[in-house]
Amino acid sequence: MKIIRTENYLEMSVTAGRLLAEKIRSNPSMTLGLATGSTPKGLYEYLIQDHRDNGTSYQQIQSVNLDEYVGLPAQDPNSYHYFMWKNLFDHIDIAGESTHIPNGAAEDLEQECTRYDQLIKEIGGVDLQILGIGQNGHIGFNEPGTPFSSRTHIVTLAENTREANSRFFNSMEEVPKHAITMGITSILESKEIFLLASGEQKAEALSKLLNGEISEAFPASALKQHQNVTIIADKNALKYI
Ligand code: PGA
Repeated sequence: MKIIRTENYLEMSVTAGRLLAEKIRSNPSMTLGLATGSTPKGLYEYLIQDHRDNGTSYQQIQSVNLDEYVGLPAQDPNSYHYFMWKNLFDHIDIAGESTHIPNGAAEDLEQECTRYDQLIKEIGGVDLQILGIGQNGHIGFNEPGTPFSSRTHIVTLAENTREANSRFFNSMEEVPKHAITMGITSILESKEIFLLASGEQKAEALSKLLNGEISEAFPASALKQHQNVTIIADKNALKYI
């Protein structure tokens, strides 16, 4: 795995943004795998600014998001649909029908998982996947113990994940208990992966990823089986490396 060490969050975001915008300009019809959470927000800000300043176009881009909470409709401000529109899609020229996010409000969730896997296949797979990492090593919402063979599936969120994400909700009770997520195999099928991490609270996870063994108990360790992963992280997140 290649590591790019940056000074801070802003430099991490700009570094990832520059690399990504370059890739989009040289392959304007690529499929992006996108993530939510605090980590990629600065990257999306960079892409919006770059779209305004340099005209990088997303008209032919397809996007596939990693995950969504179960039970939150798209218009709920805590849904990942809402996050993506507010933080990226509303500000670039991507076509709405080219953006794909699992539907956590689907009546038949199993069928929704199958539909999502099929969709990813039909659009030719993900060219570049953006990932964050959870303190417990989750990628997407693949919590510790998730089989590496998994594709899109429904998960029960770990309590520490719900706690970490409760900062966006009014109370812990409001944090959904389930989510729909692309699986580990789905993620590994992406041609290239950027894993972003910032801050001391991610330092242990990155240390386990880089120094630990490959194990389903630490989902991100599956990335060691992938040939084209770049970790873009600030020095606080890399303090044990
Ligand atoms: P964060 O989440 O970017 O909000 O830290 C990352 C993750 O949990 O995957």
